[in-house]
Amino acid sequence: MNSKTKSGLPTLNQPIRPRRLRYHEALREMVAETHLSSSQLIYPVFVCSGNNLEEPIRSLPGQSRLSPDLLSKKISHWKSLGLKHYALFPKIEENKKDSFGTESLNDNGLLPQTIKRLKDDHPDICLYGDIALDPYSSDGHDGIVDAKTGEILNDETIELLAQMAAKQAQWGIDWVAPSDMMDGRIAAIRNHLETTGHYDVGILAYSAKYASAFYGPFREALDSAPKSGDKKTYQMDPRNRREAWREALLDIEQGADMVMVKPGLPYLDIVADLKSKSSVPVAVYNVSGEYAMIKFAEQAKALDGKKTMMECMYSFRRAGADVILTYFAPEVAEFLAK
Ligand code: PBG
Repeated sequence: MNSKTKSGLPTLNQPIRPRRLRYHEALREMVAETHLSSSQLIYPVFVCSGNNLEEPIRSLPGQSRLSPDLLSKKISHWKSLGLKHYALFPKIEENKKDSFGTESLNDNGLLPQTIKRLKDDHPDICLYGDIALDPYSSDGHDGIVDAKTGEILNDETIELLAQMAAKQAQWGIDWVAPSDMMDGRIAAIRNHLETTGHYDVGILAYSAKYASAFYGPFREALDSAPKSGDKKTYQMDPRNRREAWREALLDIEQGADMVMVKPGLPYLDIVADLKSKSSVPVAVYNVSGEYAMIKFAEQAKALDGKKTMMECMYSFRRAGADVILTYFAPEVAEFLAK
């Protein structure tokens, strides 16, 4: 029999109260299902040529393009917070771009200079190089564009991507991260890395990369937006879920060491799917637009930036992400260090 409260409503007839586990901070700590460490973060950073240069990025408050020397200095600080992983995105000058992204293979270019500087100064960090043509391409596409039809040419592109990966390996990159979404590129890259002797270089495959409007601020940061058309013929359709596993499985079979979902927040179902099926670690990319949303809302005093940030980080971990790429990395690491 239920007893009655003062107001006459029945109380619980079984004293099952989930709130008991939330009663005390120490209890909440003890029973938390999800944890986060700065060792699970990869920080995507933008690099520009020059010395002692810091160019703030309008669409990404708090993020800048940094010259290699300044980036190296900042890494000394970020490292002390536990950040050991950096994904490098070079800003290529417009006059160095062409339709084949030739600059991506230049041994004296910005990327090899940056890798050398960072590896000399910090042998204890891991560097990730983006494999795609867009920052180097006068067309702003991830692959070679057929001048007549506008088609993004798959098989011609993957040959270039494989060369790009071997170059970056030779320059000292630890991991290559193909973000182009061409078919068969993981096999092409893996084979070429093997035949050029780079057995230890990992492949972090952007496996389920969606054609997303959330990349806007990134394209502004690198001035890499497509000059014509969009990326819908190679990046995934946001309406699709099962197809993500098809893409990830292909990449795993072709030799990917880690698979990635991108963007993050609108695609947590995909993260959970991949985590439940994948034999390799799953990464998620908390992309530029997701970062910008929180930063601009914080500036407008619409929400608490730090709390929102941490809630998002835990949502990635809860969904199953082993690794998180995020522009929040230093702020998260600072938060966790406290
Ligand atoms: C390029 C690339 C993009 C991002 C990472 N690598 C943009 C795109 O595909 O157009 C987006 C990252 C972000 O928005 O933070 N292949």
